[in-house]
Amino acid sequence: MRVLGPLLLFALATNAAPAVVTEIVTEIAPSTATPAPPSQAQAQIQMPVNSNKNNNINKQESGGMQLGKPQKAKKPPSAPNKKKEAKYFHEPGWDLETGHYDARYFQGKVPYASHRPALRHLVRSYLSTFRALGLETWLAHGSLLGWWWNGRVMPWDYDLDVQVSVATLALMAERHNGSLHEYEYEVDGDEVGGLGGGGGAKIQGRRRRDTGKRSEGGEGEGGNAEEGGEGEGEGEEMPTKIKKTYLLDVNPHYVALTKGNGANVIDARWIDTSNGMFIDITGIRERDVEHNPGVWSCKNNHKYRTAELWPLRRTEFEGVEAWIPYNFDKVLTDEYGPKSLVKEEWAGHRWFPELREWIKVPKKDTSKEKENKKSKPSPPKKEENKSTGNKGVETVVIYEEVIVEV
Ligand SMILES: *[C@@H]1O[C@H](CO)[C@@H](O)[C@H](O)[C@H]1NC(C)=O
Ligand SMILES: *[C@@H]1O[C@H](CO)[C@@H](O)[C@H](O)[C@H]1NC(C)=O
Repeated sequence: MRVLGPLLLFALATNAAPAVVTEIVTEIAPSTATPAPPSQAQAQIQMPVNSNKNNNINKQESGGMQLGKPQKAKKPPSAPNKKKEAKYFHEPGWDLETGHYDARYFQGKVPYASHRPALRHLVRSYLSTFRALGLETWLAHGSLLGWWWNGRVMPWDYDLDVQVSVATLALMAERHNGSLHEYEYEVDGDEVGGLGGGGGAKIQGRRRRDTGKRSEGGEGEGGNAEEGGEGEGEGEEMPTKIKKTYLLDVNPHYVALTKGNGANVIDARWIDTSNGMFIDITGIRERDVEHNPGVWSCKNNHKYRTAELWPLRRTEFEGVEAWIPYNFDKVLTDEYGPKSLVKEEWAGHRWFPELREWIKVPKKDTSKEKENKKSKPSPPKKEENKSTGNKGVETVVIYEEVIVEV
C-alpha cells in the first residue's frame, strides 16, 4: 500500500470529540469534496496507481443496476462444484469472540476492559474518516441499538456494524480500497484498567455529550463537562496519545447481487491493524428494481424501504458525528423486536437509567439485583469491582451529578 503522504490534515470538531486530536489520512484520492452521485462518480474516478488486478469488476455504470457476479478469477481453479465461493475476509476463529478479529492482524483476544475503548476508537476513526472522504455511511444493527440507548457502543459488543449504499461501496472500491488511515487520539480514562478514578474527567466530558435518544434530559454541554477537571491530576501518569492505523478493505464480492454461499456477506471492513478488530460494512442496494423498487437490502436480506433510511438523520455516536436511518425506531424494532428498546437486562449487563449506561452484572447476583431494580433503581453495588478491569469504567461521574463509587 503506497503512502501518498499526508495530503489532508485537519482538526476534528473538537467540541464533539475531545479525545480525538487530529487525523492524518495517508492515502486519499485527490478529490474528497462531495459524495459524488453514483452515475457521475465512475466517470470521474482516476484509478490509483496501486490499484489491484481486480479493477475490472469495478467497472460498473451505476449503483443500482450492476449485475456483477463473484469474480471468476478469485475462485480456486480446482473448484469443480458450482458454488464454492472463496471467503474474502478471514477470522482467526469461529466462536463468537475470535470470529470478530481479522486474521491478518490478530494478536490475541482483547480483554473485556479494553475492547470497548478499542471499538470506540474504531468507530470514531471510521466515522471521521468517512466524513472527511465524503462517503455516506450510517449506523446499523447492534451499533444502531447502542446509539439508541446511550449513543455508545454496547459493552458486550464484539464488533460494530455500519451500512453504505452500493454506490458508496463502488467509490470505496475504486478510490480507497487498501488505503491506510492514521488516526491519533488521546487515551480515554477507562482504557487503562485499574487506574480507578484517574480517567473520570475525560470520560465524563465525553459521556455528557452523548446524543442518544434519551439525552433530552437537558444536559448543558459546555458547562457540565468542565466539572470533570478534578480528576485530571490522577490521570497524568497515563500515556496520553496513541496513533493507530486503520485499513479500509473492500471485498471484491461486493458487486454480487445475491448472498451466494454466504461466505461474503460482509462487503467491506474497517480494520484496526494493531489488533484485528473491525467494523463490518455492508452495502445495501435495490436488489430487484423491477419487481421491488424502493426496497433496499443487504446480502443478508435485511430489508429497508427508501423512506425508512433516507434522509439520514445526523447525530453523534461515541462523541463524533454519525448518521442514522430516518426511521430508526422501525428499523430497530423490525430487526430486534419491540423489546429491544425497553428490555433493561441483556447479555449479562443491566441498564441503569440514571447513569444512562449498561453495567456488567455479576452472574450470581442477577436475581437479587433484579428485585432491587424494581423497587428503586440504584447505582451499581460494591461487588461490581470484582471484575478487575472495570474499575476505570465504573468510577466516573456520568450523569446528573451522580457519582458512582465502585
Ligand atoms: C481490495 O484490495 C485487495 C488487496 O489488494 C484485493 O484483494 C481486493 O480484491 C480489492 N477489492 C476490490 C473490490 O477490488
Ligand atoms: C472494591 O474496591 C474497594 C476499594 O476500591 C475494596 O475495598 C473492596 O474490597 C472491593 N470489593 C470487592 C468485592 O472486590
